[in-house]
Amino acid sequence: MLSDNAKSEIQKLLTKYPNPRSAVMPALHLAQREVGWLPDEVIQEIADLVGMSKTEVNSVATFYTMYARARPGAHTLLFCADLPCALRGAEDLLARLERKLGCRAGETTADGKITLHKAECLGGCNHAPVMLIDGVEHVQDLTDEKLDEIVKRLRES
Ligand code: FES
Repeated sequence: MLSDNAKSEIQKLLTKYPNPRSAVMPALHLAQREVGWLPDEVIQEIADLVGMSKTEVNSVATFYTMYARARPGAHTLLFCADLPCALRGAEDLLARLERKLGCRAGETTADGKITLHKAECLGGCNHAPVMLIDGVEHVQDLTDEKLDEIVKRLRES
């Protein structure tokens, strides 16, 4: 599943660490950049490359939220659930967003368009609540009306 080029890049990563196992996280990043997520076959390939068991690699890939073990939707929403955002109504807004999407945080909509995740601080606490769209678009001072616009836009794109 990984290209020869990606395998070669991972091999180069291994030389940067005294223990090849230490390259597991950058290897996972590299694989995810190439494939878009981390299916079982890729977990096995990385395990073989870094000299770990598939279970060990999977435990790393499932511990950190930046790794996707399920195929993501066309768009990804990271919804800040940290304290400053929670104090400005994020929990209620997240529940509303889940109802609008018809899926819970950690899941993808039935049409495969939108994946929703809870996130830690997204660096915009002074304009809480905050959400990050597709890793590039910060939406601050979230309201129910803004969520309606965002969901409509992403569903139509
Ligand atoms: Fe939500 Fe910082 S706590 S952006």
